[in-house]
Amino acid sequence: MDTSDPMDAREAMGTYDETRRAWDDASHKHVREYESLLVEARTARLLQCEERLLSGLVEHAEVIHPQSGHGIDDHALLRLGAASVLGVDYSPTAVTAAQRRADELGVAARYTVAELPDTGLDPASADLVYTGKGALIWNEDLEAWATEMHRLLRPGGHLFVHEAHPLVPLWTWDADAPRVREDRGYFASRHVNDTFPARGATEHQRTLAGTVMAIVRAGFVLEQLEEHPEPFWRPDDAEPAAAWDGRLPNSFSLLARRGS
Ligand SMILES: C[S@@+](CC[C@H](N)C(=O)[O-])C[C@H]1O[C@@H](n2cnc3c(N)ncnc32)[C@H](O)[C@@H]1O
Repeated sequence: MDTSDPMDAREAMGTYDETRRAWDDASHKHVREYESLLVEARTARLLQCEERLLSGLVEHAEVIHPQSGHGIDDHALLRLGAASVLGVDYSPTAVTAAQRRADELGVAARYTVAELPDTGLDPASADLVYTGKGALIWNEDLEAWATEMHRLLRPGGHLFVHEAHPLVPLWTWDADAPRVREDRGYFASRHVNDTFPARGATEHQRTLAGTVMAIVRAGFVLEQLEEHPEPFWRPDDAEPAAAWDGRLPNSFSLLARRGS
């Protein structure tokens, strides 16, 4: 097993600011595609597995959505009966476009520019923290992230994450057969993203156990953990990869409760 880290410290220097700039640039897509996202927002639904796991937890909930991006899932949460959603993202471009969409549709979603892990939001202000779909990999310090998620929730509130499975960086996108990339390792701490929109940015890796234990150590009680064969995202122009044919894990869902 190769546990070596492919990036040296010099290469990793300054990557946080570069990544933040890259995300703000990439978020102009939400402005260019404003009209089609507006149409999507009008009927948006969460994934079936998300709706099942969140059953009974969304209605009347005050929700915080860290790394909210285009915020389409916020419209789905409001459709499920959330009282309000507060989207948090460090891209002013993403936040402005999401707020414009929410205002135009007249829904109870607000957006604010803030950086994880220290959002500066009020403590114990949410019943549900909903996040994922390409979020966790941008957080270098997952212990600090989990502590912040805990701080934002009221006692008894829930953290829900639907994310790429940590094995996904290892799969090739070959269409004929699933294969493991030779340049990636499950136990590496980071790798360089080679797909749009974050090409060139540093992604932080951790194992599934590493993610679960960071959340448990922050004071959460684990209630549900599921692994799924379906990826949460497929590039528009890619052929279906053999790694998505149902034999390999491509996403996971986690539900945890803030105990006290
Ligand atoms: C894959 S995207 C969006 C994910 C979102 N769940 C969605 O479906 O649109 C990841 C988002 O995380 C934001 N982000 C990355 N690192 C962040 C940080 N440290 N603090 C706040 N936002 C961050 C980026 O600006 C980007 O909008």
